[in-house]
Amino acid sequence: MGGVEARLARDADLVTVALDELLPRADGPESRLMEAMRYAALAPGKRLRPFLALETGRMLALDGRSVLRAACAIECIHAYSLIHDDLPSMDDDDLRRGRPTTHKAYDEATAILAGDALQSAAFEILSHPDTHDDGAIRAELVLKLARAAGAQGMCGGQMIDLLGVGDDLGTVARMQRMKTGALIAASFELPLALAQASGAKHHALMGFAQDLGLAYQIVDDLLDLEADEADVGKRVGKDAEAGKANFVTLLGAEAARQRLAVIAQQVKAHLEPFGPAADFLRETADFVIHRKA
Ligand code: IPE
Ligand code: IPE
Ligand code: MG
Ligand code: MG
Ligand code: MG
Repeated sequence: MGGVEARLARDADLVTVALDELLPRADGPESRLMEAMRYAALAPGKRLRPFLALETGRMLALDGRSVLRAACAIECIHAYSLIHDDLPSMDDDDLRRGRPTTHKAYDEATAILAGDALQSAAFEILSHPDTHDDGAIRAELVLKLARAAGAQGMCGGQMIDLLGVGDDLGTVARMQRMKTGALIAASFELPLALAQASGAKHHALMGFAQDLGLAYQIVDDLLDLEADEADVGKRVGKDAEAGKANFVTLLGAEAARQRLAVIAQQVKAHLEPFGPAADFLRETADFVIHRKA
């Protein structure tokens, strides 16, 4: 296993353990909801967004506990987005992270509620005093994550995805920035807010995040066309079948790969202000672009 893979696996474990502690348990009839939340959030995802947050936190020499809680909050939003993305009224998928989707393992209403409650859990984690002593900083974390998750971020992007955008590449790019890019960008924005970093560092990391997010979704769309279900842990070949517009369905795999190559060439340039401290983020960019699952 290369350096990034090993570190990703280690950070994924850290996040899974922390999520296990942070997510609610209960005894009453509502425990079905808690079980469904845990089923979705503790499932073996790559935990890429928490990894990005943790790595950025290390680079900025932040307090480990604050960043870990922020990373867990982001993963809660991501897990909720996947539960809802798989619902019959959205992408109608029955396999996620190698397991039945939440609405298959439980039922549709429980899956909707599990997504809702994971979203609330994210903001409960961020706004809790354990995340940071300073209430103003906690409010900033909440604001940043709310914006990334909401109508002008992930949810808005999902709306565009569901409506379809014909063959308009500009709209596809905007959709990608919102549905996937915003939450990936938040993985940098939250540590930046904890560090109260602005100016050149903020600008540089946001540029990196934007390229990385775009690359991430192009690879997701390529994998949908070319990967095996067993490797990605979710059904493949569904974008073309559902008539989804993305870089791969519109341009074809070759042209999408060329776009990816262009991004691969430029993405690391954003990290120049950080020098060797950003080496892990450089390797992460290679990992994201070459991932097979
Ligand atoms: C899948 O996200 C949905 C996208 C936004 C591309 P991931 O590829 O990060 O899925 P997990 O978290 O590893 O399951
Ligand atoms: C989902 O994109 C993006 C989200 C915000 C969840 P996809 O619909 O392509 O994700 P997969 O392929 O089902 O993981
Ligand atoms: Mg979708
Ligand atoms: Mg989907
Ligand atoms: Mg996909």
